[in-house]
Amino acid sequence: MKKICVIGLGYIGLPTAAMFASNGHKVIGVDINNEVIDALEKGEVIIEEPYLKNMVEQEVASGNLIASKKPQEADAFIIAVPTPLTEDKKADMSLVEKAAESIVPYLRTGNIVVLESTSPTGTVKNLIIPILEKSGLKIGDELYVGYCPERVLPGQILFELVNNNRIIGTINRKSAEEIKELYQTFVKGEIYLTDTDTAEMCKIVENTYRDVNIAFANELAKICEDTAIDVDVWEVIKLCNKHPRVNIHQPGPGVGGHCLAVDPWFIVEKNPELARIIRLARETNDSMPQFIFNKIENILKNINPPKKITILGITYKANIDDVRESPIITLIKLLEEHNYKISAVDPYVKKSKYKVDTISEAVKDSDLLVLAVNHKDFKEIDFDTLAPQMRNKIVLDTRNYFDRNIIENKGFKYYLLGKAN
Ligand SMILES: NC(=O)c1ccc[n+]([C@@H]2O[C@H](COP(=O)([O-])OP(=O)(O)OC[C@H]3O[C@@H](n4cnc5c(N)ncnc54)[C@H](O)[C@@H]3O)[C@@H](O)[C@H]2O)c1
Repeated sequence: MKKICVIGLGYIGLPTAAMFASNGHKVIGVDINNEVIDALEKGEVIIEEPYLKNMVEQEVASGNLIASKKPQEADAFIIAVPTPLTEDKKADMSLVEKAAESIVPYLRTGNIVVLESTSPTGTVKNLIIPILEKSGLKIGDELYVGYCPERVLPGQILFELVNNNRIIGTINRKSAEEIKELYQTFVKGEIYLTDTDTAEMCKIVENTYRDVNIAFANELAKICEDTAIDVDVWEVIKLCNKHPRVNIHQPGPGVGGHCLAVDPWFIVEKNPELARIIRLARETNDSMPQFIFNKIENILKNINPPKKITILGITYKANIDDVRESPIITLIKLLEEHNYKISAVDPYVKKSKYKVDTISEAVKDSDLLVLAVNHKDFKEIDFDTLAPQMRNKIVLDTRNYFDRNIIENKGFKYYLLGKAN
């Protein structure tokens, strides 16, 4: 059993730290955010992820998981800090750089260093290794270094941490053996070994594949809304996917989060001339809030101001609390700039300036209900109770989530993304 220092205790680092701890390792969870550390010291968490709170509580109580503002000497160091985009769509590696610098004084012969943060190809070789060399240790012989990207799905992180297949990219065979052995303490999926450049590229290619596929679906949604075609994109995609070799993703109001909306730019940054579909896909997905805004303008064009809209869901995807890069926030800002009054409901988000507590409070005098995120809770909405509270009974469904017949039978007008108004 090893002593492991996990640097960065967010959606990835904290579940990873708790998982290592629950498998008997002694884990030091390091973060620069006092709120995270204060919470962890009490066995609490500040992010919403099923079963995480219980696991953290248990491991802190057992003494296997300890919070710290600074790294300590350990057998292994795992870096899981953010890799956001700069304003000009470049990878901001400053947090990875600082995290790597922060462990240098604590490195000893035989240690393992693994980068988990999603990073542009070449990061371990060109950024991490030059920093680790400052320890004076011989990289590959005395210090084992690798890159192990994370593929977990928020909302089922603890299950996927254990059961997903993993790729581990390393700089030599000894590093591969050491790092594989470490992860095998809890990973039940296959572990595939490769070099660091390939592993880095795999992670961003996986997310780019999904971003491009969603952009294709969004482009189809726009095409199907064109009155010259006027078919229901959801029906088209559903039937096309009955083909054994077709798997089109779902359209929606945009792509957000820390991965799909960010990682494709890491490829564009390195190969702007060649990464043409990838860039266009990003631009297509980024255009969706404006597309939904235009659709709303059209739906409400004959209604007198002040126009009020209730937004159901503000996260970037369903059943999680994460609003990072959420296209719904972009949509709300657009609507506000055009003098729409906005109220939002989101059972997963604890704090937001747009949020009101209950849906009946939110819809009061609304002209339009926009289903922006398909949180499972919204299946329970009682339209009979909401109807008398709204000024106009109109629904825009951007996820094909509600049943048109049910909504229309309750006296609402129903509009759907991917079908002409
Ligand atoms: N969230 C996901 O679903 C997901 C999935 C796969 C990969 N990733 C990648 O994993 C990485 C981490 O993402 P996340 O979602 O966990 O981020 P996050 O923002 O939830 O958490 C990162 C944590 O790192 C801390 N931090 C920043 N700099 C630090 C430093 N120098 N020392 C110590 N702590 C530091 C922050 O305070 C924060 O608590 C990113 O590269 C991301 O792209 C995320």
